[in-house]
Amino acid sequence: MTSELAVSARGLVKYFGDRRVVDGVDIAVPKGLIYGVLGPNGAGKTTTLRMLLGIIEPDEGTRTMLGRAHPREASDVTGYLPEERGLYPNMKCREAIAFMGALRGLPWAVGRKRADTLLENAGLGHAKDEKIRKLSKGMAQLVQLLGSVVHEPELLVLDEPFSGLDPVNQEKLEKLILGERDRGATILFSTHVMAHAERLCERLSIIAGGKVRFEGTVADARALLPMKAHYTPHHNVDGAGALLPRDAERENGSWRFTVPPDGIESLMVRLIDGGFGVSGLSIERPGLHDAFVKIVGADALKDQEEAA
Ligand SMILES: Nc1ncnc2c1ncn2[C@@H]1O[C@H](COP(=O)(O)OP(=O)(O)O)[C@@H](O)[C@H]1O
Ligand SMILES: [Mg+2]
Repeated sequence: MTSELAVSARGLVKYFGDRRVVDGVDIAVPKGLIYGVLGPNGAGKTTTLRMLLGIIEPDEGTRTMLGRAHPREASDVTGYLPEERGLYPNMKCREAIAFMGALRGLPWAVGRKRADTLLENAGLGHAKDEKIRKLSKGMAQLVQLLGSVVHEPELLVLDEPFSGLDPVNQEKLEKLILGERDRGATILFSTHVMAHAERLCERLSIIAGGKVRFEGTVADARALLPMKAHYTPHHNVDGAGALLPRDAERENGSWRFTVPPDGIESLMVRLIDGGFGVSGLSIERPGLHDAFVKIVGADALKDQEEAA
């Protein structure tokens, strides 16, 4: 079983001063998957990733990475994009990428060659001989990301990789992550932005206040919430409201409400019998964002928006 896991941890705890910022985290990342660690700012995501990587030691708990006794023994087969970005500003892009590979044991000549291919595939072929300091912040971040995969790691750990990228570069990053997964790598990434997680994650953990509040697939998370109906009566939109569930909200000529526990059919029969008719009906499962709000609470999200 353990051999199927790229990362596994039990009961991780970390104190900063007397604050227990990671409070007993278990995590199991199956090999070959894209795994998300989601949570509001300050949840303990970065601290958890740093413990998993062996950059800091946990105060309690155990973890293994790629089967090694200490995660640092796996550093040559691991790639890492830290939350604080940084490359040497005077290095050219190709050299910066090859340099990051060399730090993980990749021969320079191989690194340079791969750097050219990686830059071309990312649409940055024109920047090979450009110095880092000449790049936009987002481009420099992409180059750093290429540097974290140049040695073709088995495991790629990305801390908030989408932060600081514009939508075009975010899309490039999504493609890059999918490409790495297709190559056979395991990807573990943190984010507080749900849209990327919803598209990319094959499994995820939601962390808040240093504890894991949810573990499962995106579909599992979304299934925590009831379906929503969007109903457009054919006649007398106002009148139909009297038959609808209490949470029904009027939206121009239609209504939105939670599908009742006994399903939508009997409600529709009552509406048709009442002469309101149906000119439109759709049923939607709420998205990961709504599931996230339910799991971590609206307050945590409000804190996050204020911090952003
Ligand atoms: N080196 C540190 N010293 C003291 N407090 C820290 C340190 N790093 C993080 N913290 C605190 O620990 C909590 C969790 O931080 P972090 O792991 O960075 O959360 P996240 O990545 O989910 O935003 C936060 O309240 C943060 O202020
Ligand atoms: Mg963080």
